[in-house]
Amino acid sequence: MSNFITNANWRYATKKFDTSKKVSKEDLASLKEAIRLSASSYGLQPYKVLIIDNPELRAQLRPAAWGQSQIVDASQLIVFANITNFGEAEIDLYIQNLIETRRIPIEAVQGFADYMKSKIKTLPVEVRNTWTSKQTYLALGNLLNAAAELHIDVTPMEGFEPEKVNEILGLEKIGLNASLLATIGYRHEEDETQHYVKVRKSNEELFINL
Ligand SMILES: Cc1cc2nc3c(=O)[nH]c(=O)nc-3n(C[C@H](O)[C@H](O)[C@H](O)COP(=O)(O)O)c2cc1C
Repeated sequence: MSNFITNANWRYATKKFDTSKKVSKEDLASLKEAIRLSASSYGLQPYKVLIIDNPELRAQLRPAAWGQSQIVDASQLIVFANITNFGEAEIDLYIQNLIETRRIPIEAVQGFADYMKSKIKTLPVEVRNTWTSKQTYLALGNLLNAAAELHIDVTPMEGFEPEKVNEILGLEKIGLNASLLATIGYRHEEDETQHYVKVRKSNEELFINL
């Protein structure tokens, strides 16, 4: 079996973290790199990722996340925040990065920039916000798999109230919206969930071969 599959079987959405264990700086750097390398539509990465260690801030956030204990017990809380009202300014920043990174003249990518702008401009703001939010799920997926390889536990979380999280973290005024949360750390030995058998659709149910 590939390591990927072995690790995918090892991981589970952790319900109870060991509060005495902390993710090392090196491992955190690897997880950040896995997030940073995530694929995104056009490569635009239309989100920011907050890494929250601060215990007081996490205690404040817990009620906004359905009181889930992982928020305070895990080593760190990660907030994937999509950019709201994504538009021309953000595309210009991407294009600037692209021409500097690849050392190419702006003329080589002007057509691509104009194309992206024309596509995105036509979308109503709610559709654009949904689209930027969707991109955060790919980053979460990379985090889950990279963490599993390092035997670091993660709980992906949609169980929270975005308005409240936005308010506490002051996200709205900087053009961001809490799209997803994830807590990282190490499973508590008493977390019964780690022994549960995975429930997944069968191949027959999931795949359609044409
Ligand atoms: C986007 C997303 C949101 C989730 N939200 C929560 C959550 O708020 N709290 C929680 O305990 N688990 C949450 N889960 C975990 C799922 O319930 C879990 O991944 C699923 O039951 C499959 O089990 P496994 O990940 O342990 O294999 C979430 C998972 C995903 C992918």
